[in-house]
Amino acid sequence: MCGIIGYCSKNGKASAVIFEDLKRMEYRGYDSSGIAMISAGKLIIRKGIGKLDEVNRRYKLDKIPGQVGIGHTRWATHGGVTKPNTHPHTDCTGQIAVIHNGIIDNYQELRRDLIKRGHHFASETDTEVIPHKIEDELKKGHSLEEAVMTIAPRLEGSYAFLAISTKEPGKIVGTRKGSPLIVGMGNHQAFAASDSLALAGQINQLFMLGEGDVAVLTADKAVFYDSTGREIHIKASKPDAVWSENDKGGYDYFMLKEIMEQPKSLVAAALQDKELFTSVALDILRAGQVIVTACGSSRYSALVGRYLFSSVGKKFCEVVMASEFQYFADSVSKNTLVLAISQSGETLDVIEGVELARKAGAKIVSIINRPQSSLGELSHNVLYLNCGPEIGVAATKSFLNQLAIFYLLSFSMVHSFDMAVDSIRKVSRQVSRTIDWNKDELARITEEYYMKNDFYYIARGINFAIASEGALKLKEISYIHAEGMPAGELKHGTLSLIEKGTPVLVICPGDYTYKETLGNAIEAKSRGAKIIAVSDVDNEIYDHWIRLPKVHELLYPILATLRLQLLAYNMAIKRGHNPDMPRNLAKSVTVK
Ligand code: M6R
Repeated sequence: MCGIIGYCSKNGKASAVIFEDLKRMEYRGYDSSGIAMISAGKLIIRKGIGKLDEVNRRYKLDKIPGQVGIGHTRWATHGGVTKPNTHPHTDCTGQIAVIHNGIIDNYQELRRDLIKRGHHFASETDTEVIPHKIEDELKKGHSLEEAVMTIAPRLEGSYAFLAISTKEPGKIVGTRKGSPLIVGMGNHQAFAASDSLALAGQINQLFMLGEGDVAVLTADKAVFYDSTGREIHIKASKPDAVWSENDKGGYDYFMLKEIMEQPKSLVAAALQDKELFTSVALDILRAGQVIVTACGSSRYSALVGRYLFSSVGKKFCEVVMASEFQYFADSVSKNTLVLAISQSGETLDVIEGVELARKAGAKIVSIINRPQSSLGELSHNVLYLNCGPEIGVAATKSFLNQLAIFYLLSFSMVHSFDMAVDSIRKVSRQVSRTIDWNKDELARITEEYYMKNDFYYIARGINFAIASEGALKLKEISYIHAEGMPAGELKHGTLSLIEKGTPVLVICPGDYTYKETLGNAIEAKSRGAKIIAVSDVDNEIYDHWIRLPKVHELLYPILATLRLQLLAYNMAIKRGHNPDMPRNLAKSVTVK
């Protein structure tokens, strides 16, 4: 949440570079944005609310003169979406500017103390305490880096922040704790950013900052210190070329591009190290207890994974919502294997639970998409999704690849990794072959139901979590209330909400769940529901039929998900919403 970027250069058009890099991080937050530049010894800050392009049209962010600057795109936490709350924030003298991602938990106490000592605040944010505290340190004659190193230990919570000062105009100082910050070096240019995606194609060296590390950037150099102020060496890595691709590839939205890429990304999911999968699978089988932790779509993939582990590997595991995992920490021991699922590898709810589990002696295995993530650093083993950058806020290809990884892992438990790889390749061809199958029917469904306020999604067995994933997709991008649940659960309460014309989407492949699921759909239809079926078998009770090809029962989730993604996408477009940037959300949720 929130994207931060710092740029030191020798070129006078640095703000244009910062603006472009911010655009690539806009998926991290898009309530408001701003840039601060040091120009001819003065600090110039321009900022405003709205999406980045709108703010730029109004305030010409990309035309601020100067060679050194910082930029921010915000997902509001403390303080509403207003211009004063928009970053960068400054001190009383207007000489220091700061941008921040994270939450300063003790900001109220710090703010009260600063006000008592005569500081004036312009915003309601937690962030603004940082420039004021730096101001105090600079007044004592400290350098910017000394100021940052002095105040950072007094900030509680999570943060990655960057600071500039007119007193040291060629320099940016940044630090992190609990929120991501990377440094990149290019040709006479230094960057710091929340995300390497922002720096695609501009750097040849990448540095990952550890907890509490401080970076001091000038155009030609990056110097690093640990939290005690000791200079340290951080090993440079090469930026990954795949992670430089971030255009829409001719599609109107990233979400559609990412849906259409799924046949290709499934093939990449199957490109895995057999030995690693076999060894992780054996660890899972040997563990006294297995807990899977994740949020949102990643949790729904974990629920499918739980089913696969049970039906293929005969291993039961528990899936715990990551934000609740900390409350079960007492049950974690060295006999526990924690499987953490996260596209970004930066979701704070997941990371905090994993930290507790690691302290309790658990073995940590993660399934992640982004390379060089905080979750990856905490894990004993990492399995990668290999689906490349996913920019749309809605998880699409990462979700399908998570399903594929669970499939490979469960078959590795019974020494059938190669067979599973073949099946995933085969299913990728089926996804490709059937991607256009339901175009007209999806258009009809969209036309008929886009004004509805509520949708219900039901399914049984391995597909129940897909019903929940479909409902999440619909509500997230089209703002229609939707609930997904096991079909058998409908009659235990939710059925009372069904009335004439309520859309009930039922995933009912022709497998061992078909008859019972259909029975539940008939119960809903008898109360007036309109039945939208996702199935490979036609039935007279359907009002609409979204066709699936016939596949093995464990692979229906992949094919059903594709159809539910397209339905949600169509609904969002019909209702006039940008599916890439749903209101109030952000791609990477790095706050609690
Ligand atoms: O990066 P993560 O997989 O940890 O993200 C978890 C959720 O925030 C994410 O899946 C979210 O639910 C998606 N926006 C859903 O489409």
